[in-house]
Amino acid sequence: VSPAASSDASGALGVVAIVAAAGSGTRLGGGVRKALRPLAGHPLVWHAVRSLLDSGWVERVVVAAAADDVTSMAEMLDDPRVNFVVGGTTRQQSVALALAAIDEARIVVVHDAARPLVPARVVRDVVAAVNEQGATAVDGAIPVLELHDTVKRVDADGLVQETPDRSALRAVQTPQAFRADSLRAAHARAAGTAEDETLAATDDAALVEAWGGRVVIVEGSEDAIKVTRPFDLMVAEAILAERAAAHLGTNDESNGPA
Ligand code: CTP
Ligand code: MG
Repeated sequence: VSPAASSDASGALGVVAIVAAAGSGTRLGGGVRKALRPLAGHPLVWHAVRSLLDSGWVERVVVAAAADDVTSMAEMLDDPRVNFVVGGTTRQQSVALALAAIDEARIVVVHDAARPLVPARVVRDVVAAVNEQGATAVDGAIPVLELHDTVKRVDADGLVQETPDRSALRAVQTPQAFRADSLRAAHARAAGTAEDETLAATDDAALVEAWGGRVVIVEGSEDAIKVTRPFDLMVAEAILAERAAAHLGTNDESNGPA
């Protein structure tokens, strides 16, 4: 299946998405959990779920939400394709709890509510990569960007230890797509550390890599920024304004391929 395939391709793919939305948003601040923080009139989690469903390649979405948010999120995302589970103490645990609520899926896409504006093209590219069969088959596919900044490895005293070769490094985004059985096995193997914030994985590909799975990269998107600090919300507003000015649908990529 290629990214250009028709939108009804999802029916044959068995694609279910998880949206991790149970975090507190400490770095963003603002007195409301991050997934409920409004962006152009809708909460971040609403944008993230819409981005997945509007790709046409995702059949169902399971949102991992904080216990206090399930009711309000279910009202704002009133869609038979969207279900909710109560998340955990770490992102890894939230994803594992959502995964346990998925019975039938061939491909699972894991996405962050904190990346509300991911273009449909990225969703389709990660799913298409995992859908490949035969010698090129992989367990997972992740969107990445090249780094603009030089990166240093430093120690606890602030002394520079090393300058890694930037050309071999990538910044990683979500959504990340996986063969469902591979993702389940990887999470099961790492379950012992799922509740420990210092040991739990911050992305699912890390678990699949540690399990021994093959993970391939696809081109990410500047639009798929992660809302972490207040400045990122300003960037997200600017991306939406640019899309509106270009008269594009909310889920189209505003910039051409890099
Ligand atoms: N997340 C989750 N369950 C947790 C922690 C995080 O589902 N126990 C989700 C967040 O809701 C977010 C994504 O994982 O969509 C990425 O995490 P991050 O950006 O760190 O969000 P928060 O943990 O909410 O923010 P902070 O670390 O600043 O508190
Ligand atoms: Mg966090």
